[in-house]
Amino acid sequence: MKRVINLGLIGFGTIGTGVVRLLQANGELIAERLGAKLNLKRIADLDIVRSRGVSVPEGVLTTRADDILNDPEIDIVIELMGGYEPARTFILKAIDNNKHVCTANKALLAAHGDELFKSANKKGINIGFEASVGGTIPVIKTIKESLIANRIESIAAIVNGTSNYILSKMTDEGGSFQDVLKEAQSLGFAEADPTFDIEGIDALHKLAILLSLSYGGKVHLNDLHREGISTITEQDIAFAKELGYRIKLLALAIRRGRKIEARLHPTMIPLDHILANVNSNFNAFHIIGNASDSVFLYGQGAGMMPTASAVLGDVVDISRDLLKGIAGRVPPRVLDEEKIQEIALLPFADVTTNYYFRFSAVDRPGVLSRIAGILGKNNISIAAVIQKGRKENGAVPIVMTTYKARERDVQKALGQIDRLDVVMGKTMLIRIEDKKLS
Ligand code: HSE
Repeated sequence: MKRVINLGLIGFGTIGTGVVRLLQANGELIAERLGAKLNLKRIADLDIVRSRGVSVPEGVLTTRADDILNDPEIDIVIELMGGYEPARTFILKAIDNNKHVCTANKALLAAHGDELFKSANKKGINIGFEASVGGTIPVIKTIKESLIANRIESIAAIVNGTSNYILSKMTDEGGSFQDVLKEAQSLGFAEADPTFDIEGIDALHKLAILLSLSYGGKVHLNDLHREGISTITEQDIAFAKELGYRIKLLALAIRRGRKIEARLHPTMIPLDHILANVNSNFNAFHIIGNASDSVFLYGQGAGMMPTASAVLGDVVDISRDLLKGIAGRVPPRVLDEEKIQEIALLPFADVTTNYYFRFSAVDRPGVLSRIAGILGKNNISIAAVIQKGRKENGAVPIVMTTYKARERDVQKALGQIDRLDVVMGKTMLIRIEDKKLS
């Protein structure tokens, strides 16, 4: 029986370096648990000169991915280069050459997962992607395996460490968005292009992956509502505090009968909500199954060693199958690939939730009643109002929270309010998740 599993790593960046380090540090422990040795046979990267602070035996490094993809001895390809191409082509080639695959590439899976999973399924190949969502946190395995007996009622998750870091810092220590973003970039968990983090693109990729596992289907990224955190001001953070909330970039998936409500946007959550206490760059998942009830997962959503831990967890899973001579025991998207369909999403305009509005209005008698009148005519019921300070000629912020209202009505009302001559500039809207405000 095979007692050495040969690995090929494509992409010797931060996570790739973590994989090498972890194999060197815990290789013996893993071998003891697995009953076989994991041998990192080749590492491919365009740059094989730069020092990564780890020693690699001679002959392991190559600049040609084909040295891995065409090597008949390599059993598992670990793709950690990121991006769409050539990562997609490399994974397809690995599958074609009967190699199992591990990847952390959330962008690729969110956009091309359907193609990759179908190809893998056809060839009886495993694709591990635990590291693609929530870094070290075993959320993929939890949904695919541990909670398999449940209907997933909802997931509320913080899946982008950079955004969480920025919002946490702005809330707890103050500081402008731009300054805190620079800090996050220097800490190394921001994407190469930080708009992926702050505009919610990275988080949307992760939400799409979670949806496909939880609701047995595929989703198109363009069908999911996405808002990032770049419009959140220090003023909104201060008002949120005053109202008893923290602002988090939340990925939400909620079962509404046969439809799934899925959205990603900054959200105010009550201070006593478990996710309100997930700060700094941490990620967390609050999953509710119809039998399990609440399950909460928390940890490092990025970083060299935490993400390497998730990658090697997948490698060991696949290796165990290899040692037993099986593959495809757990389908990548829970269901057999032939059964995968489009997820029926609730149109965003039909979402019903609570809202925070910050109007910039002229401080003059009757302004509040004009705003309130428009809200009332659009079926939006006000829960609280804050207005502070006086300005004779300039605009003052008027903040309102609402009871449950429909997104379609809210957009219509704000369109009307923003056209009033007493309203200066676009109204700020932040959705609220608060069970007490029904
Ligand atoms: N840029 C991502 C984040 C890295 O900030 O969470 C992990 O996917």
